Amino acid sequence: MDSLIELPAEPLTAPVPVDEIPDLSHAEFLVPGKSVTRRRVLKTMFFGTAGMALYAGEIERHWIDVVHRDIHIAGLPHAFEGMTIAQLSDIHLDEYTEPFLLREAIDHINRMKPDMVLLTGDYVSAEVLSKKMTMGAAWQCAKLLTAIECKEKYAILGNHDILAGANEVTEAIASNGIPVLRNGFLPIERHGSRIWLAGIDDPVLGKPDADLAMPVAIRNQTHEPIILMCHAPDFVDALSQHPVSRSIALVLSGHTHGGQVRIPFMGAMHLPPGGRKYVEGLFQMGGMQLYVNRGIGAVGVPFRFNCRPEITRFRLRAAKPQVPYMQS
Ligand SMILES: [Fe+2]
Repeated sequence: MDSLIELPAEPLTAPVPVDEIPDLSHAEFLVPGKSVTRRRVLKTMFFGTAGMALYAGEIERHWIDVVHRDIHIAGLPHAFEGMTIAQLSDIHLDEYTEPFLLREAIDHINRMKPDMVLLTGDYVSAEVLSKKMTMGAAWQCAKLLTAIECKEKYAILGNHDILAGANEVTEAIASNGIPVLRNGFLPIERHGSRIWLAGIDDPVLGKPDADLAMPVAIRNQTHEPIILMCHAPDFVDALSQHPVSRSIALVLSGHTHGGQVRIPFMGAMHLPPGGRKYVEGLFQMGGMQLYVNRGIGAVGVPFRFNCRPEITRFRLRAAKPQVPYMQS
């Protein structure tokens, strides 16, 4: 019986000799009105990436955002109404931060004419340069900070400072006229009234002790709220379980760099331990507020994207009604 299907004598698709395979490197893709070669696509991608790197490394990383915030504090003595505080954080001098950027930040602060300047840690970067160069950066940073035209300047250390050498960095900063509070406190007095400034040791690599930083003697004082400097912001969750939290009006933190490189619709590429929950901005938990400053430096990569360096100027005001946990 004859087969119903007649097979062709030649295969349906004849093999193409190798030397006849078309070279697609110059192939034209069909785009109405345009022809796009692969080379053109690669060129566009290269210049797009290079342009992005140039923007993030040279423009945004040096584009300081001066943020103004009113902070409403319950029990703020009348003498402190309108007091201004400038916060500078995460300088990381010499990893990528150039001295000129720190000078520019200081110029911004001097133009603000704040009543007080608070420095919330990470003056240098640890484990990037040699120990000798890192300590050189710490002393250079401390020297540059003497240009701040404000009598009341106080500091805490960050995790990088502790890893680089807590005692050496403390000596550099303190011997240049800026007291460093490591589980310490002091009164800030005006016209017979006072508030308290405290600084707690870094929660990530230090030995934070809330009872040393804010002993019972300074707690629950009517009209004597506490402002606390704490490098790593997520520590507020532990603090909020501590009785002292009822006396803390404001916590100032840094550490996160705001994420430093933030991809639209995806968020930060990296957040450090101790700074993954409260990334930037103002948070309120009952009577305690937390402000997380993005800092001015960069670590790991010399880029900032969608996350400009920040200096913050706070103005203290008498309290508004309290709001439960929220971010603004
Ligand atoms: Fe930092």
